[in-house]
Order: sequence, then C-alpha cells, then structure tokens
Amino acid sequence: MSSATHQRVVVLGSDGFIGSHLVEALLRSGSWQVVGWDREQIRTAHLPEKHPEFVFRLRDLRDDPALLASDITQADVVVNLAALCNPSLYGTRTVDVIESNFLHVEPIVRQCANAGVRLVHLSTSEVFGRTLRSWAPDARIEEGSPFETFEEENTPFLLGPLASTRWSYACAKQLSERLVEAYGREQGLQWTIVRPFNFIGPRMDYLPGLEGEGTPRVLACFVAALLSRKPLRLVEGGRSRRAFLHIHDAVSALVRILERPEACDRKVFHLGNPANETDIHGLALRMRTIWSRLRQDPSILELPLQEVSASAFYGEGYEDSDRRMPSIAQAKRILDWEPHLGLDEALISTLTDYHQRFPKDAL
Ligand code: UGA
Repeated sequence: MSSATHQRVVVLGSDGFIGSHLVEALLRSGSWQVVGWDREQIRTAHLPEKHPEFVFRLRDLRDDPALLASDITQADVVVNLAALCNPSLYGTRTVDVIESNFLHVEPIVRQCANAGVRLVHLSTSEVFGRTLRSWAPDARIEEGSPFETFEEENTPFLLGPLASTRWSYACAKQLSERLVEAYGREQGLQWTIVRPFNFIGPRMDYLPGLEGEGTPRVLACFVAALLSRKPLRLVEGGRSRRAFLHIHDAVSALVRILERPEACDRKVFHLGNPANETDIHGLALRMRTIWSRLRQDPSILELPLQEVSASAFYGEGYEDSDRRMPSIAQAKRILDWEPHLGLDEALISTLTDYHQRFPKDAL
C-alpha cells in the first residue's frame, strides 16, 4: 500500500547489477518505498541502514510464497528483474535457465493480475535471436528496416533450431513476454515490458577466475584477461556487434517508466544506445586502450587479441546474435528520454570500477 507521499514498488532481483542501480535511484528520488527481494545481498549491502524506505528480503523467490504474495498484493507496482541471464549457462544449465526465465515468472505474473498490481517485466534484446541478414545473406535488406534495426513492435523473433541450445534463454523470455501480454488482454493486467540492450556500468558481472568461475559477459571476460595479462579472446574473430548502454542512462528510463503508469501501459520499451554500436573486436581494442591509461601502463597495449571458436569457448550449441541494433523510438516518444553517455565514457566508468576494486594485477 502506498503512503500519502510514497508509492510502493517490489523489486524482484534487487541485488543484481540493474536492480541495485534502480533501487538506489528510486530511494534517491524520495518518492518510493522499495521492497527488494534477492538471494544475495552484495551490491545493496550498504542500503538498509541508510534508508528507512528500503525493506530487503534475503530470499529466493520460491522460499516464502506467502510473504511474496503479501508483498505483491500491497505493492503499487512490481518490477521483475530476477533471471539467469549469462550466455555460458544457456547450453550448460538449460533446465535452470528455462525454469528461472519462464516457470518462475508465471506465478508472479498471475499474482499481479489477480491482485490488480502493475507489472514492469524486464525481458531481453535476445528475444530477436539473429538478424534476417545472418539467416539470408543474399536477401535485400535496407539499413534501418525492422529486420536490421529491432523495432519494439514490428521485428520478428528469429531464433535458431533446437540443437542451438543458446536460444533456450531467448525462448523462455519470449514465452514470458507472451504470457504477460495475454494476462493483459484476457485478465486486465497492467503491464510494461522492457528489453535491455547490453547495459554496462559499475557493479557489473563478477570476474572469472578472480571472483567466481564460469564465463560472464564480454566486459568481465576482457577485464579478467587484462588483469591477468592474458590474451583477450575474440569468439569467431569478434565480428558480432553490440550497442552498449550505460546503466545510468538505463535507470533514468526505468524510473520514468515507473513514474508514468498510464502512458506506459501495454507498451514495450527498448533501452539501448544506437550510437554506441561496435563490433567485439573494436570493443577489445577500446578496452585495452582505456585499461592501459587507467593503469598508466603502456605495456598493456601489447597484450594480444586471440581468435577462438564459439564451440571451444562456450561448448556445442552456442550460436551468436550477430547484431542487436535497437530502435528506441518508443522510449524517446513516451518517456521523453534519450541516452547521453557515449561508448568511451560508458567504458571508462565501467572499467574504473573494476580498476578501483582490483588495484593490483592478478598474476
Ligand atoms: C547477453 C545476454 O544473453 C542477453 O540476454 C543480455 O540482454 C545481454 O547479454 C546484455 O548484456 O544485455 P550477449 O550480448 O551475447 O547477451 O552477451 P556477451 O556474453 O556479453 O557477448 C557479447 C559478444 O561478445 C558475443 O558475440 C560473444 O560471443 C562475444 N565474446 C564474449 C567474446 O568475443 N569474448 C569473450 O570473452 C566473451
């Protein structure tokens, strides 16, 4: 229930990279009471004592269904960020990926619908799979067409076959989107879907070999290589393209989405920065240069880039998204929002955080 001055938001996955920045921004605004749910308390560990408007539940979503249902019922809006969203897991822990991104989402959507509570559901740019150009290289596709620039409501989802286990995540997320939309149409759920396009910034992924095992997303992989002075590995030569958005730009859009329930009802928003597109090879070069400056060490510029096959890096079943260029027309129009931080600024901000947390090389 909202107080006279505050709206109440339940953030599921509040300690993650996106969640922790969102919770901070909401508390800073002074307009929100925040109930955060997460299995760990690392990125928001500093918050509870400082902010009387923050309640934290250190629990898995399935640990206490009665409490979760009660929190949802008392909320003005629920933001669902809980997900397993690491590409190296899609083919190795596929059952967990499908459960976390679809089966565990279903009760939340249902409870929001039953309680008449608005749901802001974080999906993924990955629902689009691969571009049509990658499936049909000879097709005539204009730059800027919905097959090249992913539009919020027009672009089809082009996922690969069953053996390409990479798409387990995209498929589960896609089904969750369809469930949310269906609850809206059939049972009046008020919903907004957000598709993040490669958010980066402080407090991103763990560093493999230093803070955990496995394979996180590309920025953390490259930072781990830079820190341990190993080659930066380019999957299939690093030809895939991504447009990176700084988390501060992303959160400013998310806060507007929360503040504008009527305008955002039954809308899909792409949050990304088209101006920040690069291929992964170019990303590696930029990161190596920025890291060398941060460390004040020109020898870092000598670290090699090394090509690696997708199957050697991720295992069989990995198939890449070749390009993810967002249309952000809907966010510009409805939220009066546009991203401000350029690629180098965004990378400097992200790498500075790693540099400060790891002042010494891991050799
Ligand atoms: C991942 C998730 O699967 C998406 O759902 C999510 O929306 C997205 O991150 C995101 O951050 O928004 P992806 O962009 O493929 O998708 O994630 P990365 O692991 O960061 O890979 C980006 C590219 O870098 C891929 O082409 C990958 O093959 C390549 N890569 C990754 C390397 O060349 N070297 C590495 O060490 C790691």
